[in-house]
Amino acid sequence: MHNGVSVTQFIIEEQRRLPNATGDFTSLLNDVVSACKVISNLVNKGSLIGVLGTADTENVQGETQKKLDIITNEVFIKSNEWAGHLAAMASEEEDDIYPIPAQYPKGKYLMSFDPLDGSSNIDVNISVGTIFSITKCPEGVENPTKEDFLIPGTEQVCAGYALYGPSTMLVLTTGNGVNGFTLDRDIGEFILTHPNMTIPADTREFSINSSNQRFWEAPVQRYVEECLAGKEGPRGDNFNMRWVASMVAEVHRILTRGGIFMYPKDTKDPSKAGKLRLMYEANPMSMIVEQAGGVSHTGYERIMEIKPNDIHQRVPVILGSKNEVEVVVGYHKD
Ligand code: AHG
Ligand code: MN
Ligand code: MN
Repeated sequence: MHNGVSVTQFIIEEQRRLPNATGDFTSLLNDVVSACKVISNLVNKGSLIGVLGTADTENVQGETQKKLDIITNEVFIKSNEWAGHLAAMASEEEDDIYPIPAQYPKGKYLMSFDPLDGSSNIDVNISVGTIFSITKCPEGVENPTKEDFLIPGTEQVCAGYALYGPSTMLVLTTGNGVNGFTLDRDIGEFILTHPNMTIPADTREFSINSSNQRFWEAPVQRYVEECLAGKEGPRGDNFNMRWVASMVAEVHRILTRGGIFMYPKDTKDPSKAGKLRLMYEANPMSMIVEQAGGVSHTGYERIMEIKPNDIHQRVPVILGSKNEVEVVVGYHKD
């Protein structure tokens, strides 16, 4: 018998406080949790079970898929399609939305997800993750279309990620703060280890892929230049820099000790407004960051207020410690 609060107990107790809860949502989250446990196991075994390396395929966004991108997508779909809680899913790795197959009952929620975030890191044994976002299927809609997914992030009822790092963690919000759970492999349960996670408002640590520097817009150029100038520069302080190239790991670091993360608008490929995907990465992470007291912005607008125009839409992302994100947003206004 363990004495910690399991994620299942936590979700049930949270749902009990809602007047009309049916248990449906609790049950849906249980399936998400199961998927994350299976993925954690696959990632953990790695080469032992032959899952590392590249597949000979590209996803709809023209990115070469890793074997694990495909396997984890399959795991996430299989865990979540059968129980009757979802009406459809949208995945970074699927061209179109994934309707719940006819043999299963359909439910009242929609789920968008990135089954393996940071997958360029998988072969070098650096942290990767899974990100998901849950919205309500519009009332009376039995067979949702792509358009039913295209609602702003403010409509999310739940967002979360699993981080497969030295420990596997699950971080969740249902709009009532952010809580973190650590997988205890001996008992196969996520245990509440990080209740009520909050992001410090101030930071001296920034995160950006500077190999794109020549493509950045002026406000981001100015901000990073000022950070690099350190104590002698206009910010009057020394800054530290980190770049993992797994958004899940960067957001987790920011939730733990503060920081600012940027994948800003750039001119590298004029057909794309940014690199990160609104539905699978930017919106769920924005909900988590805001719920933890941080800010999430494109530089021009609050990410969660964007009205999506496509399930695979990309957006600029600037998120993290409130006061620091506001500095960058301020430079965009100047
Ligand atoms: P994914 O593996 O799902 O395609 O996402 C990778 C994303 C994000 O996690 C990370 O912050 C960023 O891409 C890294 O981009 P660079 O390789 O350009 O640094
Ligand atoms: Mn990703
Ligand atoms: Mn991915």
